[in-house]
Amino acid sequence: MSIITDEINRRRTFAIISHPDAGKTTLTEKLLLYGGAIQTAGSVKGKAADKHAVSDWMEIEKKRGISITSSVMQFEYEGFCINILDTPGHQDFSEDTYRTLMAADSAVMVIDAAKGIEPQTRKLFHVCAMRHIPIFTFINKLDHDARDPFDLIDELEHEFGIGTYAMNWPIGSGVDFKGVYDRVNHRILTYADAHRGRDRLSAIECEISDIEKLDSLIGPDQREELTGQIELLDGASFDFDIDKVRCGKLSPVFFGSALNNFGVETFLESFLKLTTAPLERVAGESIVEPTDEHFSAFVFKIQANMNKAHRDRIAFMRIVSGKFERGEEYYHVQGGRTVKLSQPQQMMAQERSIVDEAYAGDIIGVFDPGIYSIGDTVCEKGMNIEFEGIPTFSPECFAMIEQIDSMKRKQFAKGVNQIAQEGAIRIFFEPDSGMEKVYVGVVGQLQFDVLESRMKNEYGVEYRQFSQPYTLIKKIPDEVDPSSLYLYEVKWVKDVRGQNYLLFSSEWSLRYTLEHNEGLELLPYGNGGNM
Ligand code: G4P
Repeated sequence: MSIITDEINRRRTFAIISHPDAGKTTLTEKLLLYGGAIQTAGSVKGKAADKHAVSDWMEIEKKRGISITSSVMQFEYEGFCINILDTPGHQDFSEDTYRTLMAADSAVMVIDAAKGIEPQTRKLFHVCAMRHIPIFTFINKLDHDARDPFDLIDELEHEFGIGTYAMNWPIGSGVDFKGVYDRVNHRILTYADAHRGRDRLSAIECEISDIEKLDSLIGPDQREELTGQIELLDGASFDFDIDKVRCGKLSPVFFGSALNNFGVETFLESFLKLTTAPLERVAGESIVEPTDEHFSAFVFKIQANMNKAHRDRIAFMRIVSGKFERGEEYYHVQGGRTVKLSQPQQMMAQERSIVDEAYAGDIIGVFDPGIYSIGDTVCEKGMNIEFEGIPTFSPECFAMIEQIDSMKRKQFAKGVNQIAQEGAIRIFFEPDSGMEKVYVGVVGQLQFDVLESRMKNEYGVEYRQFSQPYTLIKKIPDEVDPSSLYLYEVKWVKDVRGQNYLLFSSEWSLRYTLEHNEGLELLPYGNGGNM
């Protein structure tokens, strides 16, 4: 095998998803500790005022204690090169999260053992399921009182319509938590509160039929309960099938406690064995394999002003095939021109390092002079490919913003335009007016706060905001003259390209408009990949 193929095959690129507070940050931190990427627990996130997640880039995140931006972390572990994509858990940031999931090849779903599936877990799961990527479940916080483990896996199977395979099984929970039984290797890992930090747990080999040994490890009551449960599990659960895991139909389930570093290393080791090396991607009629020797990548995220020391704009690309080399000339398909990817970087949160080479599966951030859009393809010249677009979302909340200080017109226009190019907001204008009044559409309300804070901190602009009653947007076909339409309590706006749209306050208002404009057919917002 060539060096390129070797490099690609040892890569694992995955996203960690969860409902806020289930333990995603804690688990990420423990994984990074194993990889030696960070030295102390608490470097990723501590809620104490002086500690912030390494993935926190913006002031507002720190204030709210939530992660808004998705970050990428790369580390090495036992010969694997691991790329973790951190996804924001807050529901208002769904769009960014969904885009990030497009760059992952598998997902780790963290679930709070006391709560089970929560709303955000549900949404994120469905995006992963749409792409048929492998989904691994880590049921966390067993050191607290947990729901019955059968209930939890039953819920996963019924709500998500997938099979599960419990890789290990908890022995009690909360104060009675004794550890887990490893069903694959027939051994018991005992839980001791002292095992915080980086210590390796030593597993004790133990067949489930070895009553004496089990009794000495967990006591007769819990032994009896465990043997009964394992029997039930062996009889009733799905068989392990790696092909089903690889296409997202069977989720391996692990129980543990991220905070106490219990079950994390065994999880990581099994996960690395079971998950896939970088997956292929579809580009029109063709399928691009990671081991294709030609470099290709797509942009899944654009972010400006990530940190004050670097006033710049970064386009994040997922490398789909081949090897990236610094200094080479590549082709930006949508821009129709050759580009030199300047200052290619890999991120370890705020620490950036320039990369000379990177392989399929890796994420690189490149300097963006304002030419890239989400979904764009960059590849070797002559490849003639275009990756499938990333789904866009219809904005559901609207506000009109108006600059306060007319001396800052330029900064105001620059700010809203740049933030719109990142895909965080959509901007629209009244048909005959200029930049001083802008209609902003967002997927979740919290984006308005993000916008306000970024405009103030990054562009030095304040504005007045007037919320609008609209919740629905539809595109007007090019051949229809909007001024000829009968519109009642409906707003007609244009986007930067001059495309016309209508904003409605309800489904009723949309129906009313269609009924009063015979023959009018409105189009969905976005690129057709709407969710
Ligand atoms: P998130 O990224 O999914 O939002 O969750 P995060 O890791 O921040 O964890 C949320 C809270 O749950 C944190 O407590 C964290 O310490 C706690 N936690 C995570 N894993 C476990 C676990 O295995 N057992 C127990 N008992 N708790 C766990 P916090 O009080 O909100 O924050 P902090 O002060 O501990 O940072």
